[in-house]
Amino acid sequence: MDFINVMMGEHKAIRRMLKVMRKACLDVFERKPVDYSDFHKIIDFIRGYADRHHHGKEERLLFDCMLKELGPVADTLIRHGMLVEHELGRLHVKDMEEALERIEQGSEEHKVDLIANALAYTYLLGRHADKEDIAVYTYALRNLDEASLAELERQCSELERNAEKEGVQEKYLGLLNKLEQKYGVI
Ligand SMILES: [Fe+2]
Ligand SMILES: [Fe+2]
Repeated sequence: MDFINVMMGEHKAIRRMLKVMRKACLDVFERKPVDYSDFHKIIDFIRGYADRHHHGKEERLLFDCMLKELGPVADTLIRHGMLVEHELGRLHVKDMEEALERIEQGSEEHKVDLIANALAYTYLLGRHADKEDIAVYTYALRNLDEASLAELERQCSELERNAEKEGVQEKYLGLLNKLEQKYGVI
């Protein structure tokens, strides 16, 4: 299924941004000169690409289909696992943004909150993407019926095309490349 390959490819891009985040946090920790606007760019990537574009496909298409078709196992896996982790990720990003605003107002203390939430997000999303690649997507491919998989393929490719027209992938993958070069994490 091509849509699963697309989503696993998005996990790879997200993992690359997690490395940038870790390096940017290390610069804050080591008191190097830090361009805090990069953290705003990272937050934009997380919200626009990892959450709206990628988690949007999971929540509105794949997970929704699994919940309707696969019974209690999917219910536990999705509702009490994956969706809870998506929400926890959003909370870390909100707390990161609040810490960032306080730093920009002159607070030194909030640098620890920025680092704590940014790193917590990297641990969470790294494990989350691994679980989806190894267990959740595989379970969906093995257990959803052929017609449902074909419909998911159609909906996902339509969504991808629309996002391409809006320049979503180009914008965020371009930003990722720039930040990787800037932080030397290629
Ligand atoms: Fe997810
Ligand atoms: Fe995912």
